[in-house]
Amino acid sequence: MSPKVFCSNPQAQFQSYKQEILDAVTRVCEKGPYILGLEVETFESEFAVYHNVKHCIGVGSGTDALALTMRAFNIGSGDEVITVSHTALATAAAIVITGATPVLVDIEEDYYTIDSSKIEEAITPRTKAIIPVHLYGQPCDMDAIMTVSKKHDLIVIEDCAQAHGALYKGSKVGNIGDAGCFSFYPTKNLGAIGDGGGVITNNSQINDRLRRLRQYGWDHSRISQEPGVVSRLDELQAAILRIKLRYLGEDNLKRQEIAHQYKVLLDNSDLLLPTERSDCQHVYHLYVVRSDDRDALKSRLAQNGVETSIHYSHPVHMHPGYLDKIKISPGGLIVTEKIIEKILTLPIYPEFDLKVFTNLKEVLSV
Ligand SMILES: Cc1ncc(COP(=O)(O)O)c(C=O)c1O
Repeated sequence: MSPKVFCSNPQAQFQSYKQEILDAVTRVCEKGPYILGLEVETFESEFAVYHNVKHCIGVGSGTDALALTMRAFNIGSGDEVITVSHTALATAAAIVITGATPVLVDIEEDYYTIDSSKIEEAITPRTKAIIPVHLYGQPCDMDAIMTVSKKHDLIVIEDCAQAHGALYKGSKVGNIGDAGCFSFYPTKNLGAIGDGGGVITNNSQINDRLRRLRQYGWDHSRISQEPGVVSRLDELQAAILRIKLRYLGEDNLKRQEIAHQYKVLLDNSDLLLPTERSDCQHVYHLYVVRSDDRDALKSRLAQNGVETSIHYSHPVHMHPGYLDKIKISPGGLIVTEKIIEKILTLPIYPEFDLKVFTNLKEVLSV
């Protein structure tokens, strides 16, 4: 049976903002330029203002945002970068692209984000940076991460691909570390209609370097000062993102309201529901529950027309293609491995109305 309820639904969001998006697309198509023009420039400054930071640099994807930012900080071959195994493979892939080695640390069982108490044991003389991932929309334990990073003189690059607009003690994620990297993949809280990524930072040297690296290493005179790549946010995507950025706060509130409704509905069930870190605002990119009978639950939901997903069935260290590229922290990955058989992602997106699904409670009760 094809699903009645999708796990995520970027097409529904297109319908919400259709006329504005089509007008913007027409404007760009008729006027041009199509690459690195006023739309990208304006989006960059609007996204920087939104985060209260000095710079935003638009790039081609979230993976490129991470990889180019590491390169801008001179991270490369022989270096180690601490992150988690329980993340989108992209986080580790970006580290590998630079030539550095991802060192994978376990997560906190309650929040699914890096266990800051396990970072120090993973540090070696080669460690250059930490990439905390604000997974599912939940901010990491940034105070503890910043304390360890200062003590060991490490760069902190926040992976904010799943947490646009999330708050850690009143600050938007991405402006706490040395840089914040975003994906604008269509399903993200701020999603384009295609690929896109961005970096925010207060570091002007990193800003300058990223602007060169995203385009062959060119300076303002189009003279290459170092080898670069081609990874540019394009004008059409920037124009669309400018519209959606205006609604990001509202859309995140809708996600939080759906999470609240799930909580009311499922509080007495056998499912383990998401926990929010205190003093933070989770933006529910994904709504992930845990069940002892996950696979049966997933099938039952599918039979009832509800699409679910698993983020992630294969943590980074279980992808054969990356096995010889990574190191596991001496502390091991006990929690990471414990949860993978139990996690299940339920539908959540701003346009999703839990009420349309009248027998959800019965279907979900284990
Ligand atoms: C946590 C995380 N990091 C990085 C990325 C990479 O983003 P992109 O797909 O735009 O390269 C993603 C997107 O899947 C992600 O979820």
